[in-house]
Amino acid sequence: MRIAILHNHDHALLEEDPGREAREDVLRVASAMQTALGKHPRHTVSLYGVEGDLLGLHEAISSDKPDVVVNLCESLAADSRGEMLVPAMLELLQVPYTGSSALSLALALHKNKAKEILKARGVPTPEFCVIQHVEELASIDLPFPLIVKPSREDASVGIDFDSVVSSRQGLGRAVARTLRTFRQPALVERFIEGREIYVPILGNAPRRPLPLSEIRFGAAFNGKPNVVSYRAKWDTLSAECIESPSETASLGKELTARCMAVAEAAFEALECRDYGRVDLRVDSSGQPWVIDINPNCDLHPQAGFARAAEAAGLSYADLALHLVDLAWERRHGNQAPRLGRPPAARRAAEPHRDLHAGRGVVRARSHRRRAHAQQP
Ligand SMILES: Nc1ncnc2c1ncn2[C@@H]1O[C@H](COP(=O)(O)OP(=O)(O)O)[C@@H](O)[C@H]1O
Ligand SMILES: [Mg+2]
Repeated sequence: MRIAILHNHDHALLEEDPGREAREDVLRVASAMQTALGKHPRHTVSLYGVEGDLLGLHEAISSDKPDVVVNLCESLAADSRGEMLVPAMLELLQVPYTGSSALSLALALHKNKAKEILKARGVPTPEFCVIQHVEELASIDLPFPLIVKPSREDASVGIDFDSVVSSRQGLGRAVARTLRTFRQPALVERFIEGREIYVPILGNAPRRPLPLSEIRFGAAFNGKPNVVSYRAKWDTLSAECIESPSETASLGKELTARCMAVAEAAFEALECRDYGRVDLRVDSSGQPWVIDINPNCDLHPQAGFARAAEAAGLSYADLALHLVDLAWERRHGNQAPRLGRPPAARRAAEPHRDLHAGRGVVRARSHRRRAHAQQP
């Protein structure tokens, strides 16, 4: 089978990019995925790095005609809102691809829309409002403490200790900062004190929750809000990162079942598929609240999803192959063989192509594999 791995390659595009580390990380995921899938004797794997040139990508995929696309794109031209365009384009080309549809990705990234759907379905999610302009601040009628986050970002972009506020003054500052830095509406939400639990979900029918994990907030969070800030997620040398490891959650049978049920209901509400992770906070009464749905979660071998799969008996290579199978089966049904047409009948793909913003043409990069990726 000819597999194309698509990933964003846009971390160096903006001088001031508040999500640069998160965007860069996807290179490592793509590289790990390529290695894992490349071990399979019947698969050939090519990487496509996309800066922002969607038309160039369209041209490359329609001429190379991979059997399956592994879609790791989380942004286009350093803008997370471009993420949804990639699956939309793959639908147009009728190429099977891993992961959720454009609709689900778009909803998950429009956090207020996702929360409206959850609310309508009775899935517990903290009360919230959306602020477009600082003039609307006075209209906020939610009890403190609150958290302010960009409404269209991911990977803890825009989250730090000052995002959690307990006064009108702090709220005003956090909202103004979010509007100014991210040029998008600010989501203001009730801050749920309590445990932070992640529920990874794999597959469709059946959909299978993998072992749950929990963030352990250590001494760096004494007297500070327990939040997985951008620094905690990406600045590996920071105290916030070192002291917020994720561990296997030990919740007891009943709470585990409650967390899984809430997470699955959230996954279902956005029609997510194949894989993803639902983030919960569990309050002191044992009520889980959905704070974030990640249909396009981090698939790095050391990140939570792959570790949970491993704990469930699925090696990284097995996981990668399983994701490819899910995409293949969606299009072709559950049938063997899964090899597609013989490779000789097709034009050979470049091992790695980088598609650059605004160029209008595809620039084939070197034949070196994993040209940009580093191992973790
Ligand atoms: N309502 C909330 N209550 C408590 N903590 C929250 C809440 N919303 C977000 N957080 C904290 O902020 C982190 C990032 O927020 P999240 O909504 O998951 O955004 P992202 O999509 O960037 O991951 C979470 O992991 C959690 O620690
Ligand atoms: Mg999150």
